[in-house]
Amino acid sequence: MKTVDINNIKIIIVDNYEQMSKKAAAMIEAQVLLKRNSVLGLATGSTPEGMYQELVKKYQENEVNFQDVTTFNLDEYYPIASDNPQSYAYYMYEHFFKHVNVREHYQNIPNGSNTNVEETCQAYDRAIEASGNIDLQILGIGTNGHIGFNEPDVKFEAGTHLVELDEETIEANARFFEHIEDVPKQALSMGIRNIMHSKKIILMASGQNKAKAIHAMLRGPVTPELPASILQLHQDVTLIIDEAAAGEL
Ligand code: PGA
Repeated sequence: MKTVDINNIKIIIVDNYEQMSKKAAAMIEAQVLLKRNSVLGLATGSTPEGMYQELVKKYQENEVNFQDVTTFNLDEYYPIASDNPQSYAYYMYEHFFKHVNVREHYQNIPNGSNTNVEETCQAYDRAIEASGNIDLQILGIGTNGHIGFNEPDVKFEAGTHLVELDEETIEANARFFEHIEDVPKQALSMGIRNIMHSKKIILMASGQNKAKAIHAMLRGPVTPELPASILQLHQDVTLIIDEAAAGEL
């Protein structure tokens, strides 16, 4: 393991995906031990799968208890039903919630099936604020530098909003679908303000295909064209990345 700071961001470089997953799980475990009623911001995708496996193991070994924890997921496809196996609601249930004791009422994911998008987004923002904001936010990063589904744009979106997914994101996520045409074209995502109001942020990345985005977010200018670059302005960000993702630093 190596540590380095770049532009106010703490970086932990580990050998591989498994080590990344263990480190992130250890940090969530510590967070919940230190504050039982923590508000956790959670992510989906390939990157955090190993972290959820670790957390489930720790829960089964009685090392951590999620009874008083509240969770907010970053994003959800739109439109999609929560029982659709491609939904992030389904992902969260399968990878985490069905195995641990986060109370159902305390699990929050943007509602991909409410046709009143405005209402969904405003309710989500209000719920995050009412929780006192997120204590620890977990992020992945897209090959295009997106966080949540905040795609490269000419401006940063503040609150939860409807997103037109980038061609690059649709191509990257096609691996989860039978045909690329099946990938939803839109999603609901927390905005940059929601993410920046988190007290602590952990961003995880594994693999050489993330190296360019990691380099740009750390070394490049802060710009909505590379949404993750905004994290240079947050006070408490830790990257946990493997050697491959650190390859261009
Ligand atoms: P991935 O997605 O973990 O499936 O690579 C990350 C992201 O798009 O934020």
